[in-house]
Amino acid sequence: MLPDMSQSSNPTRTVPTRRMAFDEHLAQVPKHFAEDGDVLMSHFWAILSASFPEGEDFFVRSVRHYRDQITDPVLKRQVAGFIGQEAMHGREHRVFNECLQALGYPVERMERLHRRMNALQERLCSPETNLASTVVAEHFTALLAELVLTDESFRAVLGHQAVQDIYVWHALEESEHKAVAFDVYRAMGGSERNRIWSMKLTRWALVLIAILIPVQVFVTDPAARRPGVLRRGVRRFRSTSLMRKEMWEAIKDFEREDFHPEQRDTTALLDEWRERLFGDEGTLNDRLVGSTAV
Ligand SMILES: [Fe+2]
Ligand SMILES: [Fe+2]
Repeated sequence: MLPDMSQSSNPTRTVPTRRMAFDEHLAQVPKHFAEDGDVLMSHFWAILSASFPEGEDFFVRSVRHYRDQITDPVLKRQVAGFIGQEAMHGREHRVFNECLQALGYPVERMERLHRRMNALQERLCSPETNLASTVVAEHFTALLAELVLTDESFRAVLGHQAVQDIYVWHALEESEHKAVAFDVYRAMGGSERNRIWSMKLTRWALVLIAILIPVQVFVTDPAARRPGVLRRGVRRFRSTSLMRKEMWEAIKDFEREDFHPEQRDTTALLDEWRERLFGDEGTLNDRLVGSTAV
């Protein structure tokens, strides 16, 4: 029997909105915060952080567009959780981005560019295509989140503890809501063709961005112009698990007709990290301001 496409694919999925306060700890982050002061890796995480607030606002708008048409009360509740989580990510990454800007990263310029690109896409594309872009982006963030939560050496690359904390919290929640936008897309009858083409375009755009990152780092950061710094950075970047063949294959899984984000079962991983971060001895309890269970 075919699953009911108008409903949540996982009724037991919880998507709580946690209000966090990372500001005090983020204010202590040095300029090259990544492991061993690696310049390129520091810029990589900074560029990612710079992309989050505008990106997440876009994801929320694209999902909210369909909110009133969702009939399944469970999926409706999960959408509220998705919007709450992404709003909190945007808020905390804006705090981090202000610190990064003060340290000399060109964050404001990147945010401005991102805002303009999103506005252009929303003017030119249909709500369905915008939601397809969100579903694609959520696949990337879910895979990155899984890597952060499962691979200790990849987590270590983040360097400074405050940076690890914000990314680990973000990773937990990306994994918690990884199928929500997908379920909305399916419930609204979004086409497979549109979904798969959005992935193909995004995949190649990201390859192009990956090539341009070292150029931007070279131009904007004098530390990157010291002999050997960028070469060592590129070598380190290529040795991370992000660059493994399995990652590329997991990205391409999305292009299968029967793909669904829940096919990668992260239930045990989520239970483990909820306990590690917010259990009785949770390492982030002192940064948790409040939480709404959804
Ligand atoms: Fe997020
Ligand atoms: Fe997300």
